[in-house]
Amino acid sequence: MRPTLSSSLLSQLSEFVATQTGLHFPQERWSDLERGITAAAPDFNFLDRESCARWLLSAPLTRRMNEVLASHLSVGETYFFREKQSLGILEEHILPRLLQSRRQNERRLRIWSAGCSTGEEAYTIAIMLDRLIPDLKDWNVTILATDFNPKFLRKAAQGMYGEWSFRYAPVWLRERYCNKTRDGSFEIHPRIRKMVTFSYLNFADDVYPSLLNNTSAMDVIFCRNVLMYFTAHRAKQVTGNFHRALIDGGWLIVSPAEASNSLLSSFTPVEFPGTVLYRKMDNAALSVPPKSDSKQEESILWQRPPGRDKACRGQEAAPTGAGLEVSQTNTSPATQADQLPAPQPDEREAPSRMARSCANQGRLSEALEWCEKAIAADKLNPLHHYLSATILQEQGQYDIAIQSLIRALYLEPMFVLAHFALGNLHQSQGRYREAQRYFGNVLLLMRKHPQDEILPEADGLTAGRLTEIVTSLLASLPQPATASA
Ligand SMILES: C[S@@+](CC[C@H](N)C(=O)[O-])C[C@H]1O[C@@H](n2cnc3c(N)ncnc32)[C@H](O)[C@@H]1O
Repeated sequence: MRPTLSSSLLSQLSEFVATQTGLHFPQERWSDLERGITAAAPDFNFLDRESCARWLLSAPLTRRMNEVLASHLSVGETYFFREKQSLGILEEHILPRLLQSRRQNERRLRIWSAGCSTGEEAYTIAIMLDRLIPDLKDWNVTILATDFNPKFLRKAAQGMYGEWSFRYAPVWLRERYCNKTRDGSFEIHPRIRKMVTFSYLNFADDVYPSLLNNTSAMDVIFCRNVLMYFTAHRAKQVTGNFHRALIDGGWLIVSPAEASNSLLSSFTPVEFPGTVLYRKMDNAALSVPPKSDSKQEESILWQRPPGRDKACRGQEAAPTGAGLEVSQTNTSPATQADQLPAPQPDEREAPSRMARSCANQGRLSEALEWCEKAIAADKLNPLHHYLSATILQEQGQYDIAIQSLIRALYLEPMFVLAHFALGNLHQSQGRYREAQRYFGNVLLLMRKHPQDEILPEADGLTAGRLTEIVTSLLASLPQPATASA
């Protein structure tokens, strides 16, 4: 199809869409852009594409409008076991080492499928973990899957797929992990579905990483076949955020077409046969020691391309023999904590800063200890109780987290993030009435704030954005008749 809208209108639209979504529509893709706007026009109550295009350019979009636009402009192509190369490396090398290093202490694992589309990638990861971890129920596993297309997210949460989604998947996947439905679809087992949390996140405007939306302290981020649709500027911004969202030693997995050392210059590229993965190595305090019995294999598989990371190169020369990923002997929590800035004795806020810093690195027990110190030093500060609650929540200690939040609200009844967190916690526990109540409180409190006001302690989240998030959460709660007491 040749575009029929004027070049000037298409050029403005392309710029507008890039700002709203990060999606890149250069001139050679203007026909795709026009097709998307044509499809979106009826959803915005327009009969023709041109009026719709002009209207879009004339007013700021609400989240709802953004969602509609996203659903017509994004490419959702995905399937189970896509790009087996990187999945194989995850399964055979990254995960076994991570699990081995975590087994003794905190049995936790955090993986993010960023730009998850209809969920096949996230469920592939869940199935892989189910096969790798025999005592899965004793682990605190988070698989967060986010997208900005609500239609994709709805389908993902249903976990129902046709044959086509399994076109490259091994046969056992359907046999062991799906139930065949009457209409011939395949439904992912509820046990696997429950392992994945789907939520809305727009890379162009959302706040991440943040404890608020559970996007911090990730061990592995999958962002495959997403960055290729972005402007260079947006892709750089997004990968910068991913870098902050990973713990030190964490991995970013992009598709082979997106692997670019200039785009991902803050990461260390690690070459594996047939693919390159990217690793955050700020302090090189890596948490994934090599298996002692497989050094030969290590030296082949984990070679970092020479000359790319000075700090790590120096350490490669250390006598570990494995030729890579060094400092493995220095990975005890105590050693890692030593690398954090030491608290100054006269700073009352130092323990809570330490708590945050540890939490952002996924060291939850340490973070909690720092929280306790912060509370002991300053009992009446609601922020310490709130921080403690976010960490407890991540540890899966929901009831204690709720108590901490209630304490925070006792000290500061207008503490909006505590209301928000209580809403989320109750919702995740299926207590929809309570969730409704706390989300309602957030909306009431937000009335007093200008839309663009950045909320305290909210990692840059504005009042307007929180209102949108909570409005949409409220809309997604089951109606009162079906809500639990
Ligand atoms: C081609 S799919 C990739 C799915 C999966 N990662 C894979 O590799 O199979 C790209 C996904 O990125 C999502 N996406 C595009 N722009 C986005 C943005 N600004 N924020 C969040 N998700 C976005 C799209 O909605 C789509 O679901």
